[in-house]
Amino acid sequence: MADKCTVKEIRARKGRDKITVLTAYDAATARMLDESGIDILLVGDSLGMVLLGYDSTVPVTMAEMLLHCRAARRGTARALLVGDMPFGSYQAGVNEAVQNGIRFLKEGGCDAVKIEGGEEMAEVVRALTRAGVPVMGHLGLTPQTAGQLGGFKVQARDLDSARKLLADAQHLAAAGAFAIVLECVPGPLAGIVTRQTPVPTIGIGAGPECDGQVLVINDLLGLSERKIPSFVKKYADLASLVRAAAAAYRDEVQSGAYPAAEHTFGSKVDFSELLRNT
Ligand code: KIV
Repeated sequence: MADKCTVKEIRARKGRDKITVLTAYDAATARMLDESGIDILLVGDSLGMVLLGYDSTVPVTMAEMLLHCRAARRGTARALLVGDMPFGSYQAGVNEAVQNGIRFLKEGGCDAVKIEGGEEMAEVVRALTRAGVPVMGHLGLTPQTAGQLGGFKVQARDLDSARKLLADAQHLAAAGAFAIVLECVPGPLAGIVTRQTPVPTIGIGAGPECDGQVLVINDLLGLSERKIPSFVKKYADLASLVRAAAAAYRDEVQSGAYPAAEHTFGSKVDFSELLRNT
């Protein structure tokens, strides 16, 4: 097995080789992704929509995030484990943000946290980093504030907002962020931000010029019930396999084909006496 992925190594890979990131919300999935050589496992607050059935990531709580972080930790050996700080856990003040960030490391077993926002979050990023909590930034489409951004849409489409995105990335890097997710921004702009920011950019719907890529695991596996964004490549269609397997099981239970002899424990004991007593 390759060496454990560290924040230092992720930073050093900028411009050298691409960084792979996938979300993981439980131990079994984390173990499979870790064994597949994925560099960073992100316990994203997307779990609110993907697993818990919320309409957005806003209702996700610290307790829910920490539960899934602990589970993913148990399945992760090599990858860097990053936990998403949920909405409300870092916006109210720097002290609360630091206390909650520390909980991700102590109680969630994470190596780092991710927070959404640009220059306005620089102070929080600086304080978390100073407290020993490595931070990944998140710019562009930031789902926790998607309402303010006009919904789940491509961001920074005009020059002014592109300038702001670039400045935000530089503020986050200067404040100590070790990497920055760029979500749903035009590919050429993501390329410019990548070249002009000293830390790795991790794209999702941001084209091929980022230093790495991230996808939601359920989207990649074709397990999502939600509408899949156009930038996602489905590498498998597990939802069809799950439906087909469940329907075959239902049919076989109803017809008596399952369980067959090989699925049944036999015994040398003659139980027929019990039959007479009933
Ligand atoms: O919550 C999440 O899964 C994310 C990724 C999509 C970057 O923030």
